[in-house]
Amino acid sequence: MKKRVFSGIQPTGNIHIGNYLGAIKQWVAMQDRYDAIFCIVDMHALTSLPDPETLKAKTRELFALLLACGIDHQKSAVFVQSHVSAHAELTWVLNCLIPMGWMNRMTQFKDKSRRQKEMANVGLYDYPALMAADILLYHTDVVPVGEDQVQHLELTRDVVKRFNSIYGETFTMPEALVPEVGARIMGLDDPTRKMSKSETGAGHAINLLDPPDAIRAKLMRATTDSLTEVRFDPLRPGIFNLLVIYELFTGLSRPEIEARFEGKGYGYLKKELAEVVIEGLRPVQTRYQELTGEAGRAEALIAQGVSRVQPTAEQTLAAVKEKVGLG
Ligand code: AMP
Ligand code: TRP
Repeated sequence: MKKRVFSGIQPTGNIHIGNYLGAIKQWVAMQDRYDAIFCIVDMHALTSLPDPETLKAKTRELFALLLACGIDHQKSAVFVQSHVSAHAELTWVLNCLIPMGWMNRMTQFKDKSRRQKEMANVGLYDYPALMAADILLYHTDVVPVGEDQVQHLELTRDVVKRFNSIYGETFTMPEALVPEVGARIMGLDDPTRKMSKSETGAGHAINLLDPPDAIRAKLMRATTDSLTEVRFDPLRPGIFNLLVIYELFTGLSRPEIEARFEGKGYGYLKKELAEVVIEGLRPVQTRYQELTGEAGRAEALIAQGVSRVQPTAEQTLAAVKEKVGLG
């Protein structure tokens, strides 16, 4: 039996090459070895109260993008969180089991609520419980996530211990799988900050659906330093970031890349990198157009995704309700 992998991604903002290189590409690579489920977490996205039309449109866009990036609907299941009501129901049960002290320690909530006080709603506070429910409904073994989600995974593991010790063996203990450090892509305008979906600056990120000219323009304007040598040097974050992007798109080794740019300036690197990124994203963009160009095709696939995962979710929820005495 293959191990179960589960991960989620929020349908907010524009999906950028950081998401692609740091998360989605790993997911694609894991599909053969694992029984994989990928979830578009629109209920998590609701914590920031996006415009309703936008949330709906972004959910559909992300679904098509994941398939366009190479998630294979025959091998893996892709579905929308709010389509399976068991996520919300299990969250409630977990809420009653999680001491407030555990939640009060969550650094992501503390950061987000400090930055946008009026937006710090109860949903945002409870975000980790919903994430735990996502994971636990499907008997997940492995959860590929970024560094910032490791604390939420630890909370999920604590929930498993607590639930299983009170009610008997019920949930599978999940493990986080954090990609190697190279997969942290930084903002083009500020290479000391992580490339992020919530940044709106025009030169910050390359989005997966950016046309070639936009990619060229963003890369030519990318912040570097006043030196000239093209080398993998973490102390020069701008040029380092561009080289890491080049490395991840080409699959070449660092010595090979440094040799290629020996004696060439930053402008040359930026031009070459633009072409590599454009070519790398071309098949994704082509498949995206195919999937969304045909009326009803994406919607049919979305419905198919739900029907693949719903039975497992319902079964887990029924077992949990029975154990805690609901019904
Ligand atoms: P987010 O954009 O924060 O919703 O993250 C979605 C997924 O993409 C998570 O697995 C993140 O770890 C990953 N991710 C987000 N931003 C980056 C980045 N700049 N570099 C690498 N991976 C990223
Ligand atoms: N919180 C995750 C993020 O922001 C997204 C997410 C929601 C998730 N539910 C999940 C990731 C379950 C892994 C497993 O990246």
